[in-house]
Amino acid sequence: MALPMKMNDRVILREEDEEERRRRRKLEEALEVKSLRRIISAYLNYPEAAEEDVRRYERSFKMLPPAHKALLPHYPSKCQRLRRCISANSYFIFDMLQAFEPPLDLSEDVDVCDDPHLENIPSNHDVSGETNFGSSQSTSSNQRMHTSKSDQSDWVEGSNAICNSTIEATTNKEEKHEGHGESVNRSHSDKEMHNCDGNNGNVSSSTRTWLDPSSQLHVPLVDVDKVRCIIRNIVRDWAAEGQKERDQCYRPILEELDALFVDRCKESPPTCLVPGAGLGRLALEISCRGFISQGNEFSYYMMICSSFILNDCRTAGEWTIYPWIHSNCNSLSDDDQLRPVSIPDIHPASAGITEGFSMCGGDFVEVYNDPSQVGAWDAVVTCFFIDTAHNIVEYIEIISRILKEGGVWINMGPLLYHFADVYGQGDEMSIELSLEDVKRVALHYGFHIVREKTIETTYTTNPRSMMQNRYHAAFWTMRKRSATTEHGTP
Ligand SMILES: C[S@@+](CC[C@H](N)C(=O)[O-])C[C@H]1O[C@@H](n2cnc3c(N)ncnc32)[C@H](O)[C@@H]1O
Repeated sequence: MALPMKMNDRVILREEDEEERRRRRKLEEALEVKSLRRIISAYLNYPEAAEEDVRRYERSFKMLPPAHKALLPHYPSKCQRLRRCISANSYFIFDMLQAFEPPLDLSEDVDVCDDPHLENIPSNHDVSGETNFGSSQSTSSNQRMHTSKSDQSDWVEGSNAICNSTIEATTNKEEKHEGHGESVNRSHSDKEMHNCDGNNGNVSSSTRTWLDPSSQLHVPLVDVDKVRCIIRNIVRDWAAEGQKERDQCYRPILEELDALFVDRCKESPPTCLVPGAGLGRLALEISCRGFISQGNEFSYYMMICSSFILNDCRTAGEWTIYPWIHSNCNSLSDDDQLRPVSIPDIHPASAGITEGFSMCGGDFVEVYNDPSQVGAWDAVVTCFFIDTAHNIVEYIEIISRILKEGGVWINMGPLLYHFADVYGQGDEMSIELSLEDVKRVALHYGFHIVREKTIETTYTTNPRSMMQNRYHAAFWTMRKRSATTEHGTP
């Protein structure tokens, strides 16, 4: 028979628990630092990896017999042009990294490999080693940032979230714009991100030793590929060239929001959450239409870039990038492949956002499972997001829970499950439902379908490529039944 525990035993156990929690927190933080360094290194490795590609093209060209070379006299100069494009892209990337305020101390010495607890850490590091926000409790508690002006200012209590709000930036910028120079010369250290104590929550911003070539890690090419994907995402969200894709994907959502919230008023704007917000354009557009909009995103690759464009852009068309240089396939001409794209197509700070706009870093499940989120949102908008789930049922359950009664869920996207066919990762959970089953699950969680249709669209596709992958994406509006209509007709 177990003897009742004595008081002293309980105290000792509590201390051991506390010690264990501290160790865990430290370990999680160390993991996050390690992965964030890896992501920064991926960005920093971009020029070298791209240059290696050009060297490969040159080596292949050299192997040609003279008669074939003679047919392609412009080929060497194309390689030189490519190098100039790579420089321009690298310039943008470096600018972006310089503006980045890491939420963790990246100068810390991190060695986590031998820790026996490593296996037990629930991790947001995806299969390719990408770190996502919010993998650690400790990060959330001492790195959480929010705007004091936001209605949502204390909603992340106890959850794994980093809120990087742009509203203060915009407010400041708008004020400063009358005196233009001040805004333009704004230093990164006086940026708008504050932690709960009102201090700047970021670290090592002044020294930036993590940008030194000496602290750069050599990363696998698959990491650098992600940087290239981000560049394509920039076109989707922040270039005139992406307008067609935005018209296909974002416009129907915006029109639906407009129609559903006809009577929204400035004094009390409806709230809208955009999980998996990518580079933030949709969340910004929603904000500009009179909603308190929050984008949620868990990839540091995305958040570093969206934060830069949203917070640090001084004028539309400030940067020129060359997004299509990394593929020689399906080009109609070299000029097409090497064409410049100027970004952003709009100046975000002048776009007319509604107060309360924010981007929240963290895993959707971890952040919005928090009790404070229950019934917090008038609308949830998911665009190319729900298939990122390990467990799509959990996503739907959370969306339902965080919506107010009568709130709406607008979805647009395919069901290209991200964790399907992840070879060699047999233990990764991946629930891959058909559209029919997704809708059945939604009905179970109290939704009824208001509207549904199919929308043909591309995703980060080069509009001038000879290959265009098209989705027949599902679009729907569902409304969460209110308790009174739960068992009756809506
Ligand atoms: C296919 S992209 C779509 C991005 C954007 N909605 C668009 O339409 O361009 C999916 C996004 O969801 C993010 N994401 C995936 N899983 C997530 C999670 N559990 N929590 C938050 N964001 C997530 C990814 O990092 C990525 O930016």
